Amino acid sequence: MTSDRVIDLLQKAYGDEMETVMNYQTNAIVLDGVRAEEIKQSLQQDIQEELTHAQQLGNRLKQLDARPPSSAEFTARQDSLQPPEDSTDVLSVIRGVLDAEEDAIETYRSIIDAAEDADDPVTEDLAVAILADEEAHRTEFRGFEKEYQDD
Ligand SMILES: [Fe+2]
Ligand SMILES: [Fe+2]
Repeated sequence: MTSDRVIDLLQKAYGDEMETVMNYQTNAIVLDGVRAEEIKQSLQQDIQEELTHAQQLGNRLKQLDARPPSSAEFTARQDSLQPPEDSTDVLSVIRGVLDAEEDAIETYRSIIDAAEDADDPVTEDLAVAILADEEAHRTEFRGFEKEYQDD
């Protein structure tokens, strides 16, 4: 039906999405100041999308007779997305988001390749759809990076 590599990558992607939800949520709460408002709103919107990605990945894993991971199997990796010491340091959060989105793009590209090799077009289609969302997030935050580094 599919390959072990596809299952492993779907489980990794699920964990990454959940870590992203946690860190976007925390940063959206922690950031202070008028300049942060736009970023906080954008993060809140992306949280909903990342959560939907996790749900879609989890449902696909179930269809493949596997399971999404839970917290006991989880290793945190998003060092650059930890909330900054200075709660007005919006640029540091923007750069952390860009790292997370780049990482997600790489993972979904790997899933697309692995699913194609495994002749699993349903997983491939799902990964293509999610990849499009992650690229849109990256574009949005690249724009923010330009805007905020010039201030
Ligand atoms: Fe996502
Ligand atoms: Fe994203």
